[in-house]
Amino acid sequence: MTSTDHTPRPTVRKAVFPVGGMGTRFLPATKAIPKEMLPIVDKPLIQYAVEEAYAAGIREMIFVTGRHKRAIEDHFDTAFELEHALELAQKEDLLSLVQAIKPDDMQCVYIRQSRPLGLGHAVLCAEPLIGQEPFAVVLADDLMVGSTPILAQMVEAYEQVKASILAVQDVPREHTKRYGIVDVAGKTNQLTEILAMVEKPMPALAPSTLAVAGRYILDSAVFDAIRNQPVGAGGELQLTDGIAALMATQRVYAYRYEGQRYDCGQQAGFLAATVDLALQRADIAPDFMAHLRAVLAR
Ligand code: UTP
Repeated sequence: MTSTDHTPRPTVRKAVFPVGGMGTRFLPATKAIPKEMLPIVDKPLIQYAVEEAYAAGIREMIFVTGRHKRAIEDHFDTAFELEHALELAQKEDLLSLVQAIKPDDMQCVYIRQSRPLGLGHAVLCAEPLIGQEPFAVVLADDLMVGSTPILAQMVEAYEQVKASILAVQDVPREHTKRYGIVDVAGKTNQLTEILAMVEKPMPALAPSTLAVAGRYILDSAVFDAIRNQPVGAGGELQLTDGIAALMATQRVYAYRYEGQRYDCGQQAGFLAATVDLALQRADIAPDFMAHLRAVLAR
């Protein structure tokens, strides 16, 4: 930055992508490749997530990887032979598509989670690379689509409150037992302080129908809060428990985002995302729509 450049520095500069899970619900596809490399149409889930963070002004992408490190690292690295071949074949469109995966001003850093000890543990692994600044956590298997990217909406909300923010969405009451549910004391504002959080409550006991989705902006105090949690079921450290503990010392907000979430960690959500995104593609939609019509007419 030059002395005449007065552009304010974004306060959320780093995003953590926990990609160390085993993806057991997607076996056998995830035996040798990470779940986050599964494509929706022709783009891997992790690329959608990174593009969302980039659109929010974030330039440092931190991947907490597990045993399938290679594919994700290779995806965001230069592919010299491929680029050379595309250049020789004068396939400029494909060449720019490949080169755009990692813009020059974006930095990718990888840190290993030695064992999949839970999402809280994965986030804790990023602590040495985050230090004491606020950061985003992006779960790539939650594919989020909005006319303004969801994380960009949240960074803007962060600028208002300068406190941790969780993305939430309304779910049918009968689905509360699938999600972390927040208690916002009946408030309906887009940005509301969370009073409490309950993990997967039965519908009758849920304090609201607002479910936490896979986008967070967190204060770095969350690291101590996670570290001080007892290890939970299956030897895992849960992020939800850490955030709940953080709420004892700091305000944490729920942000009702504008857009759509697809839970691509399970087959039905993955297929819904595939159909919706394929129908938004001018090059694919006509043939694909004709096929869908034929299927429905059977
Ligand atoms: P999930 O529980 O959805 O992912 O974690 P999973 O464990 O990989 O999937 P299943 O249940 O076995 O099918 C949400 C996110 O947290 C990451 C996962 O990679 C996923 O993006 N995660 C989870 C980690 O990075 N480390 C962990 O120890 C656990």
